[in-house]
Amino acid sequence: MEDGAAFNGLSCSWPTTLHTMASRGIILLTGGAGFIGSHIAVEVAAAGWTPVLLDNFCTSERSVVDRLGELMGMPVRCIEADIRHEGAMRAAFGSTAVHAVIHLAGLKAVGESVEKPELYHDNNVRGTEVLLAAMDEVGVRRMVFSSSCTVYGTPQRLPIDESHPLSAINPYGQTKLDIEHMLDRWVDAGPDRHVCSLRYFNPVGAHASALIGESPLGIPNNLMPFVVMVARGELPELGVFGGDWPTHDGTGVRDYIHVVDLARGHVAALDQLDSMHHERINLGTGMGASVLDVVHAFERMNGAKVPYAIRPRRAGDAAAAYADPSLAERRLGWRAQLGLDDMVRDAWSFAQRQG
Ligand code: NAD
Ligand code: UFG
Repeated sequence: MEDGAAFNGLSCSWPTTLHTMASRGIILLTGGAGFIGSHIAVEVAAAGWTPVLLDNFCTSERSVVDRLGELMGMPVRCIEADIRHEGAMRAAFGSTAVHAVIHLAGLKAVGESVEKPELYHDNNVRGTEVLLAAMDEVGVRRMVFSSSCTVYGTPQRLPIDESHPLSAINPYGQTKLDIEHMLDRWVDAGPDRHVCSLRYFNPVGAHASALIGESPLGIPNNLMPFVVMVARGELPELGVFGGDWPTHDGTGVRDYIHVVDLARGHVAALDQLDSMHHERINLGTGMGASVLDVVHAFERMNGAKVPYAIRPRRAGDAAAAYADPSLAERRLGWRAQLGLDDMVRDAWSFAQRQG
């Protein structure tokens, strides 16, 4: 094994049996132990692929791998490695035939990115460079990339389609733009390369089994995990950032998408990947929900109280942001199936199961 490859006890060696299993092929999920990656692993497996996770667990828990195994009824392979580590990445790709990479590994906290822009560039952008170089060495030519609606900056028009102007309003957003540009160069640098950058809107919820879900470290920045902590009594109240936005009830509107719907969008992208050069596609529901819509749905579905207080607007926020998801329907044959009630119910079920 290469120096620093850091395979751990979760799956110390690559399973040679994977080559002989009845599978459409191996999908390597960088950041696969995270909130979104774990849900994608389930859907990828259900579609007949073999998911293999690669993660350094900097923002996720090792127990996710066991819980995924329980959910899928079979052991899940996970390589503990940092995408920035050339030796580890070379070892990972050198050991098996990967059909495609779903690249989720990245840091995503906007506030932290403002404090530590170099860390975000190093982890997200340089990490992607190292990953692509390792893929090049073994001829892996397909990638689905976790991009974000943050690439649209402050919305200029609604709904937001893929031709909306791009801008970075924080260092995290800059990393997503930088990586999308890097992927443009990568697909042009060799034959038969295929990339789909999926621009997620606001993923929330959890798997219906309540075995996997969102477990942010510390006090969350995002709305849904904050609502969950308030409902659990771990925080006294939700601060609603602005009650005077030009929206139907004065609070900020976003396009919340159930993480299982989001995961299924990745399977649809894998199925269409070979017909793409580098395409960017929104994954959202197309429906806006306000902060108070979320709070009220949460209370109604879960019988829980979410005390809240209107606070000043948060710097950098927009009144409303929601997707035009029609390209995903045309190009991938995908549309979101689950609604806000499903999202708040499943987020709460997962939180309750955590004890
Ligand atoms: P997450 O923090 O739960 O998952 C990210 C995973 O990547 C974690 O398991 C982490 O340990 C791993 N990771 C980070 N840096 C790594 C590195 N250098 N090497 C190996 N592993 C590394 O976050 P998530 O919500 O699942 O997000 C997944 C991806 O989707 C990220 O790229 C994020 O930017 C993107 N995204 C998320 C959202 C959202 O609201 N959750 C929205 C748009 C885009
Ligand atoms: N909100 C509150 N109180 C909170 C947290 C959030 O009122 O404690 C409000 C926000 O003002 C906003 C809405 O809830 O109106 C959603 O906020 P989030 O922080 O959950 O999500 P954002 O849409 O603001 O942004 C996040 C990331 C972006 C990313 C986007 C889509 O910060 O970088 O999700 O993925 F682009």
